[in-house]
Amino acid sequence: MQKKFNRVYTAGAFDSLHIGHIRLLKAAKENGNELVVAVSTDELILNYKKKPPLQTLDDRIEIVSSIKYVDKVVIQTSRDFKLKDCIKNKCQCMVVGSDWKGTDFFEKLEKEFKSQGLTIIFHPYTKGISTTIIRSNKG
Ligand code: CTP
Repeated sequence: MQKKFNRVYTAGAFDSLHIGHIRLLKAAKENGNELVVAVSTDELILNYKKKPPLQTLDDRIEIVSSIKYVDKVVIQTSRDFKLKDCIKNKCQCMVVGSDWKGTDFFEKLEKEFKSQGLTIIFHPYTKGISTTIIRSNKG
């Protein structure tokens, strides 16, 4: 089947893998021949989510790498490197959950992507599940 893009990019913590992550990765892969996933470092997660991940970077990389939709895993050290990372990995499109749509961060990023001829697709967020929810049900 002819895909819209050759390479698609997505990024995230992918901690406590859940159905929302799988749907996002599946949708991302449907848009391209290859999917590159940037997995956030433990330090980056601690910085922006204010909590350390439940699983280490190495374990999260091993988990994400084993998903059939994923062709390549890279490490995300900063949220500000998405465009640079996309270009470096020869991706023409980034797919992200729609929970980010309309945020200041992604409004700015969309403009930057557009100026480079790249696209951002917002995939419908899977309601009712997240790492935060899994965490809050623990113990
Ligand atoms: N995502 C999604 N649906 C969910 C949860 C996440 O589509 N229910 C998407 C996010 O929008 C993002 C990607 O999956 O594009 C990775 O999200 P991540 O931050 O790793 O997962 P969350 O479960 O949202 O983590 P947290 O609760 O810590 O914010």
